[in-house]
Amino acid sequence: MSGEGGLTSEELAEFTKNDKYSILLPTYNERDNLPIIVWLIVKYMDRSESAYEIIIIDDGSPDGTLEVAQNLQKIYGKDRIILRPREKKLGLGTAYIHGITHATGNFIIIMDADLSHHPKFIPKMIELQRYLDLDIVSGTRYIGNGGVYGWDFKRKLVSRGANFLTQMLLRPGASDLTGSFRLYKKHILEKLIKSCVSKGYVFQMEMIIRARQYNYLIGEVPITFVDRVYGESKLGGSEIFQFAKALLYLFATT
Ligand code: GDD
Ligand code: MN
Repeated sequence: MSGEGGLTSEELAEFTKNDKYSILLPTYNERDNLPIIVWLIVKYMDRSESAYEIIIIDDGSPDGTLEVAQNLQKIYGKDRIILRPREKKLGLGTAYIHGITHATGNFIIIMDADLSHHPKFIPKMIELQRYLDLDIVSGTRYIGNGGVYGWDFKRKLVSRGANFLTQMLLRPGASDLTGSFRLYKKHILEKLIKSCVSKGYVFQMEMIIRARQYNYLIGEVPITFVDRVYGESKLGGSEIFQFAKALLYLFATT
């Protein structure tokens, strides 16, 4: 039986069978969060039956996050957990770039390691990407849960779902510019990174603005962002200043 996208689920399975997801986890002082986030990722990714790896980029956390990551690698194996630590805190933007150069997947998933981003949303991002062959799926905190929750790919999409998706795609850009919970086609992400000038927290926003410039296909999945329980946010005054500066720059140049 043919679905809305003109493909049977068997055909789609054939197209996607070589897909692999590289999940990037940048960490700075995430000793308490890391085991939980990794456990959750494994739980949801194993269930989704997709090939994947988790790349942990620790920036010399003084709390011993790297030792925790090494233990996790022993538990889950070297194919599952890839460690790409750096000597010192060099910032989130370059941590992503560093992680991507070591990624073996054709898709990259970026998320925070502090449990603000729940891995249960990853399968939804994957489903949406596959169904519409999207370049980017962006988690969004700013659109309601209308229809996306409980969406099950294995069942055929009803036309209401398709309508809803079309609406989402025709949205002017994305509704959550600063969020970082996203899935990218790897080659698209590489191109975006090359064209981005900002570092650190601003990176997220610039990426989506550039993506719109290049007419990349962007979809959105509503997510809940839960504030961290363990540890502290690294977002400080200087990041906010950098953000404002880059915002002005992007307004002026795009
Ligand atoms: N390797 C590395 N190096 N990791 C870092 C660094 C760094 O310099 N700084 C932060 N991280 C890691 C943290 O350990 C966490 O896993 C993730 O990056 C996000 O850092 P937080 O400090 O928790 O960020 P936040 O909660 O203030 O900000 C979140 O929300 C913002 C607004 O939506 C992040 O998702 C931001 O990317 C987002 O812009
Ligand atoms: Mn956080």
